Amino acid sequence: MRTCYTGDVNKDHLDQTVTLFGWVHRRRDHGGVIFIDLRDRAGLAQIVVDPDNVAAFNTAEHIRNEFCVRITGLVRLRPEGTSNPELASGGIEVLCREIEILNPSVTPPFQLDDDNLSETTRLTHRVLDLRRPQMQRNLMLRYRVSIEVRKYLDNLGFIDIETPMLTKSTPEGARDYLVPSRVNAGQFFALPQSPQLFKQMLMVSGFDRYYQITKCFRDEDLRADRQPEFTQIDCETSFLNEVEIREIFEGMIRHVFASVQNVALPASFPTMTWEEAMRRYGSDKPDLRVKLEFVDVGDLMRDVDFKVFSAPANDPASRVVALRIPGGASMPRSEIDAYTKFVGIYGAKGLAYIKVNDAAAIPEGLQSPIVKNIHVDVLAQLIERSGAQSGDLIFFGADKAKVVNDAIGALRVKIGHSDFGKDNGLFEAGWQPLWVVDFPMFEYDDEEGRYFAAHHPFTSPKDGHEDFLETDPSQALAKAYDMVLNGWEVGGGSVRIHRAEVQSKVFRALNIGAEEARDKFGFLLDALQYGAPPHGGVAFGLDRLVTMMAGAESIRDVIAFPKTQRAQCLLTQAPSPVDEKQLRELHIRLRSPEVKAAQ
Ligand code: AMO
Ligand code: AMP
Repeated sequence: MRTCYTGDVNKDHLDQTVTLFGWVHRRRDHGGVIFIDLRDRAGLAQIVVDPDNVAAFNTAEHIRNEFCVRITGLVRLRPEGTSNPELASGGIEVLCREIEILNPSVTPPFQLDDDNLSETTRLTHRVLDLRRPQMQRNLMLRYRVSIEVRKYLDNLGFIDIETPMLTKSTPEGARDYLVPSRVNAGQFFALPQSPQLFKQMLMVSGFDRYYQITKCFRDEDLRADRQPEFTQIDCETSFLNEVEIREIFEGMIRHVFASVQNVALPASFPTMTWEEAMRRYGSDKPDLRVKLEFVDVGDLMRDVDFKVFSAPANDPASRVVALRIPGGASMPRSEIDAYTKFVGIYGAKGLAYIKVNDAAAIPEGLQSPIVKNIHVDVLAQLIERSGAQSGDLIFFGADKAKVVNDAIGALRVKIGHSDFGKDNGLFEAGWQPLWVVDFPMFEYDDEEGRYFAAHHPFTSPKDGHEDFLETDPSQALAKAYDMVLNGWEVGGGSVRIHRAEVQSKVFRALNIGAEEARDKFGFLLDALQYGAPPHGGVAFGLDRLVTMMAGAESIRDVIAFPKTQRAQCLLTQAPSPVDEKQLRELHIRLRSPEVKAAQ
């Protein structure tokens, strides 16, 4: 029988005999004495094998890294000067009495404590990668977060109801993963992009408060914060308005941070309209730790003798903004050049700047390739509006609004997080939660020439905005909200449409005809007709939340068996071809001759 976890052995066990099970993290032969760092999910303990104990010593000589062993021994203090304050067990060691090899290990393909492993290596050998203490900590943290979520929601009367995985497509804006039906030839299920429509129907059924920690599937371009299958904390409630819904769920996030990490988030999270977030930060998920803001200067630039600025200044779809960098005049040219290259990734054609050497001497005190093109009066207004002081630098973005928002928004974050930003007080460490509210109902897609739902098509317009659905959809704002934490969208939701006629208007604005709406969402439209209650909810990305709490770089580090950026599982080699017989049963013939079924 195990006495306790290896990592939990401590001074309370002094002079006791313990039995430990675990893996050999490291074995060191110190000329006559063998030290084993034994590891289990709780941590490490040092085992000492003395040559006097001949049987144990002989076994220990054959032991290698990652062998699975049982050890019985006496807990004693480490000799003076050899304790390790980093380990819970750092003050003690276990003098081995008996050691049994439960199972040897072949030589692992990498050292578990190597911090420079490639992700390909880690994901290919995920079983071993998951043995690493950091990964064990991440997955335990993930578990703690979901347990605390459940406790909080259970306390408020939310009940966990499962919804189908084999279902019909719901429009969350990504491509569906499809599952062919054997029984119904030529027909397909879609894996849910979210349980959105089911949770709404559960409200119509009268369950009042629902939640589920569940998988969602989206076939979209992957990034560090996206996976093709990911987990949502999905919630819905009836009879509450936007503000009441947000209160419940920011309470949940506060509870999770307090109980899991002992972090007190603000008693009330700030809210900011989408319009303000875009105007001040160029982003609907601003990282408020970065103390830099956009200043619009388009109105000053309409008549300047510099096309790069004057053209967008006169185009309503464009923007000209200044980003003041306090202390930035000391930035070397090479750094400015690197930033110019960086904004190019987002489509910016350049990165104009002014170094403000002396704010009182305009124009001589301003150093810049563009100053000669801009009238002194305009320069003076620019300096005043941006609040620039001597020693500052001002960057400019001038282009279509989307390019400026993306490019200067990313630049803002990059500078804030850089050494320069940290040394100059442009970054304030800590947790900065925020609700972004009043999103537009629709986004216009120039290429397709039509509107798309900014959140999803079941989101209610703001009171008084219903008429815009028919007159000018671009003006309609939604009862939608996102929770943003340190620049990540960790959750999003909305008050839903609960009247069938409003839902039909939204479908029309989206160019979804009556027939298509019936075909795709008839079951929802029908449900709404039976006294559907006012309702709304939210879904949090569990993977993202845990990634942030763990301080990990990618959500792959908090998922036991994630997919790569190419949506593959390197461990199991999925996806993979299937044999011809299976395809035939599913009524599928592969289109391109190069793509062959498995033999
Ligand atoms: P939304 O699409 O905003 O809303 O998703 C909710 C949250 O899920 C997380 N998320 C992801 N995490 C990892 N990988 C992905 N590919 C991914 N996509 C989304 C984000 C996001 O905030 N049904 C609505 C919710 C509602 O209205 O109640 C929905 O799915 O953290
Ligand atoms: P040019 O006249 O093209 O040499 O550009 C003069 C300065 O304006 C350079 O510093 C460019 O990096 C910058 N610049 C060019 N296009 C843009 C743009 N769209 N937004 C901001 N700066 C720009």
